[in-house]
Amino acid sequence: MKPRVYVTRKLPDDVIERLAQTCHVRMWESEEEAVPRDVFIEELKAADGALTMLTEQIDRSVLEAAPNLRVISQMAVGYNNIDLATATARKVAVVNTPGVLTETTADLTFALLMAVARRIPEAERFVKEGKWKTWAPLLLTGADVHGATLGILGLGRIGEAVAKRARGFDMTVHYYSRTRKPDVEEKLGVQYRSFDEVIATSDFLCVLMPYTKETYQLIGREAFAKMKPSCRLINTGRGEIVDEEALYDALVQGEIAGAGLDVFTEEPISTDHPLLQLPQVVALPHIGSASVATRMTMAHMAVDHLVAALQGKAPKAQLNPEVLTS
Ligand code: NAP
Ligand code: GLV
Ligand code: GLV
Repeated sequence: MKPRVYVTRKLPDDVIERLAQTCHVRMWESEEEAVPRDVFIEELKAADGALTMLTEQIDRSVLEAAPNLRVISQMAVGYNNIDLATATARKVAVVNTPGVLTETTADLTFALLMAVARRIPEAERFVKEGKWKTWAPLLLTGADVHGATLGILGLGRIGEAVAKRARGFDMTVHYYSRTRKPDVEEKLGVQYRSFDEVIATSDFLCVLMPYTKETYQLIGREAFAKMKPSCRLINTGRGEIVDEEALYDALVQGEIAGAGLDVFTEEPISTDHPLLQLPQVVALPHIGSASVATRMTMAHMAVDHLVAALQGKAPKAQLNPEVLTS
């Protein structure tokens, strides 16, 4: 009998057809709306595997309601929505999609950095709203990207890819990360510094760590107080790493100059959130990996991982390799 799998979001037909060759597939039929928690829990009662998005909270109670579940294959690299310890204890293999979205997410991170620096969204609104009268010497002047100092918090796959882009802009790049990366330092000329030093000397600060117990609101009031008034914070990691109330206050009080945010503590962020009222904030709807090609690659990879793990073959990206899937 084919294993039963539940897919938590509508994916393109060719992706699902591949999965259906080896699995009995049920799917939440909406592309734009996340599966309600009660529906997800109900569907997991009979599922051997699940193909999930970062929008699903896969906590202890969800896992305990899924007696047959053996594999969670998530179409994302971040997995802070999954209780990995409980999954491991219940012998559920957890797999993500690392690597294939690195360059695409680094592109978006750099685009966001440049959008904040050069006030691109503000300038575009200015033109479309008919406010443009003439060329003016100081009209919509922003900050230079070239030659500036970039601080990377979390020098992993995406952080390194951002550092590579920064080289082309003659930026000075320094970083703080859990593990020092001598090979990257050598290859890209980036320098390791303490957290305090990185935040105090950067013109642009890119947050590219995962959200964990250790990184929760790591960028808070104390951190903003140490930043340069000209600093611009770019967060493509996770919303929870930044204390958003403290960020708002820092922006309003001029402790920092701007922010580019692709991720938020609450997604979607409410349109009346104070941060969205500030012109120096550029907000995006969590589109870091959203190129057509990369999203298709991620979807196919999530299928490959799910099928492999259900067949008892340990996929490369397994987050808990101690779980034997045979
Ligand atoms: P990665 O290769 O694991 O890089 C994360 C880096 O952060 C690693 O170097 C890691 O250190 C470091 N780190 C972890 N905990 C830390 C801590 N407490 N203090 C300092 N550094 C710490 O992951 P990635 O593929 O680059 O992805 C990074 C994150 O980006 C994901 O977790 C996800 O949240 C986010 N993301 C967002 C989007 C988007 O659409 N906006 C897209 C993709 C990813 P080690 O080297 O010691 O492991
Ligand atoms: C997106 O945020 C991801 O973690 O893949
Ligand atoms: C601007 O367009 C310039 O020519 O300097």
